[in-house]
Amino acid sequence: MLDGVIITPATEDDWEAFGRVRLASLREPGSPQAASLGREEGFREPHWRLRLRGAMYLLAWEDDARQRAVGVAGMMQEPGAPVEERLIVALFVRPSHRRQGIGAALVRAATHWAAVDDAKVVSAWVVDDEEPAIALFEGSGFLPTGERVRMPRNPERYEARWSLTLANDEVVQQRKEL
Ligand SMILES: CC(C)(COP(=O)(O)OP(=O)(O)OC[C@H]1O[C@@H](n2cnc3c(N)ncnc32)[C@H](O)[C@@H]1OP(=O)(O)O)[C@@H](O)C(=O)NCCC(=O)NCCS
Repeated sequence: MLDGVIITPATEDDWEAFGRVRLASLREPGSPQAASLGREEGFREPHWRLRLRGAMYLLAWEDDARQRAVGVAGMMQEPGAPVEERLIVALFVRPSHRRQGIGAALVRAATHWAAVDDAKVVSAWVVDDEEPAIALFEGSGFLPTGERVRMPRNPERYEARWSLTLANDEVVQQRKEL
């Protein structure tokens, strides 16, 4: 499990590897954000750097030299959401590296970061028919909140909000681990 894979917060200098793994995620058949592909394929260095400045991203690397990212997860504050909530976005693991625990490790790392950043709740919007993602969040302790919306660009599909409430002692524990 996770042999040779490390997870780090992305820095702006990781823009190239970040851009490649992000485009791979948009090219995945059925990707909820596929509509962004045309636009993001035109991104150049300044656009990827801007994206990395706008949110916190974690990258999973298969090599110490950090040339090729095999997975990614973003963390943001949803506009209008309470300040103690964080949202996991853009979670993706390259098909060649799935079922090795990388997705779960990215979710754990994102939750850890949220706890250290004083969050009390971590959420994610998960498409109803994405069984691997549902199993991953369920296995990571997330519960469906009951919120369910049609996907704006694909109204026949729905996505549901899953949340994990961070217990106070868990936050303290996460701080100690730093
Ligand atoms: C969802 C995704 C990130 C999972 O990544 P992963 O690295 O394969 O996940 P992990 O290996 O950490 O799996 C953790 C657990 O999730 C569940 N799971 C993951 N993939 C699964 C699958 N294909 N079928 C059933 N359960 C699955 C299992 O419970 C698994 O634990 P186990 O391997 O011990 O049984 C990956 O499939 C992906 O990138 N999918 C496309 C993008 C996507 O759906 N993103 C989520 C948006 S919310």
